[in-house]
Amino acid sequence: MTGFHPLEHIRRQISSAVVRAFPDMKADLLKFETPPDPALGHIALSCFSLAKTLRKNPQETASGIADLPYSDDIAEAKAVGPYVNFFINTEKTARTLFGYLSGNHDYGSGTEGQGKTIMVEFSSPNTNKPLHIGHARNNTLGMTFSNLMEKLGYKVIRANLVNDRGIHICKSMLAYQKWGNAQTPEQADKKGDRFVGDWYVAYSKAEKAEAETGKKDLENEVREMLIRWENDDPDVRALWKKMNGWVHDGFKTTYDRTGVKFDRYYYESDLYVGGREEVLKALDQGICTKEDNGAVSIDLSDLKLGKKILLRGDGTSIYMTQDVYTAISKHRDYPLDGSFYVVADEQDNHFRVLFAVLKKFGHEWANRFKAEAMRELRIREERAASRPESELLETAEIISQSAVKYMMLRTTAAKGFMFDIKEALSFDGVTGPYLQYTHARIASILDKAGDGGKYTDNGGHKWNEDEALILLSLCRFPDVIISAAKERNPSVLAGYVYDLCRAFNRYYVASPILKTDDITRAARLNLCRAVKYVIRESLTLMTITPLERM
Ligand code: ARG
Repeated sequence: MTGFHPLEHIRRQISSAVVRAFPDMKADLLKFETPPDPALGHIALSCFSLAKTLRKNPQETASGIADLPYSDDIAEAKAVGPYVNFFINTEKTARTLFGYLSGNHDYGSGTEGQGKTIMVEFSSPNTNKPLHIGHARNNTLGMTFSNLMEKLGYKVIRANLVNDRGIHICKSMLAYQKWGNAQTPEQADKKGDRFVGDWYVAYSKAEKAEAETGKKDLENEVREMLIRWENDDPDVRALWKKMNGWVHDGFKTTYDRTGVKFDRYYYESDLYVGGREEVLKALDQGICTKEDNGAVSIDLSDLKLGKKILLRGDGTSIYMTQDVYTAISKHRDYPLDGSFYVVADEQDNHFRVLFAVLKKFGHEWANRFKAEAMRELRIREERAASRPESELLETAEIISQSAVKYMMLRTTAAKGFMFDIKEALSFDGVTGPYLQYTHARIASILDKAGDGGKYTDNGGHKWNEDEALILLSLCRFPDVIISAAKERNPSVLAGYVYDLCRAFNRYYVASPILKTDDITRAARLNLCRAVKYVIRESLTLMTITPLERM
């Protein structure tokens, strides 16, 4: 990793000092950790494997290493049992960091992904229903994960697979055809995806009522409609096109409003035929079996996944049929070094089966495919009066979106959580509005300083303990991006930026920034600028628009 990475720079210096003293030692065997409390140290070196190589005991090794000569980037090295805890030289680190930030705008970027292409699929809605909160979460996770990987140099293709065909789509179509009186969403004054979704609900209700009478007419009709759709019946196709168009308009409105962007759309309607061909090919090769009712299945019992149907008895395709070919297409369309699906965990089994099927079908790259289930606003009134209504509305929109998006990212991607809108909107919790408030607060301090926003010399300033902690936290930013991306877990970033904001607010209450001597003021303003930069970058990575004022 190159790019500006202050802690990595210091870890490398420690490594070279150790290797210089113990030539038997390989630098990549050194294991660095982060001490649980910065009062204990800023960087820890665990000496277990080192001691093993040197055939000494870990404590002795640690004290030997603590006594080595280090560059002035390191203020102190302390042996604590089998660990060496290093303290960074805050003055020097601050100088380097501010120097870098004053001339560059890529702090936090890495190069490990250079020359590599990955695909991140997310959102992937069905066109029989509006987007729901699960999509909102996966959209935010998908966008943030993509941004993180891009920050590390990967070329990222954001993909959306639209499940726009199948029995569920025919259900809303049938209901609309029967009871819709050719009304349009505009006439009904509804967003297109909601309008179609309501017909899906109407179908489900009617089918349930019918089932109570013991009849199955609707179910049969819908099945027939799917067959007609797959046989390219012009009427059914025209209805499908019209209704899907409405749904897509509705989706687009939501994506645009929330800043969700895709580089590539895949449509099940384009892919299911290819999927059917793959399955039939596998049937010829004896990888699949024909059931008595004509369905085609695959036996995955060796993988403890049982027997899975890949084509229905009436020849129509299912969700799985399409996904087989979607995966193949993605791989054909791009030279992928990795492919990610940001999906709900209820899809876990589906993807386990999908990857097993792809392997059985002989696709070597399937071994590398990964599925990881990531899974009334009040504005301060005294200020509000002097600002145009349009700006207030825009600010309110951004704050609400920060609230929702941050809530989505705050919890580890693989865990579920309760979405509480009141909590999400609070200005003093672990929330998006709190981050915005901190960012805007710093913007206002810098504004009042009226010094043109440039880093200035603060030579001779002695950083106090709170300041040193904030500086250390700023130095961690590149590490945080790497961990969030590697662990596929944007909550690492979400937690980090919250901690930074909290540390800053605590500091701000205790330490005057503008009304103090010149050197202290310059130092504190530099710190403010750097903190603002990192909050801003973090918000942007999380697809949240940073606010300069609230
Ligand atoms: N459309 C599906 C749903 O809303 C999710 C699709 C996930 N992606 C995929 N390639 N199967 O439940």
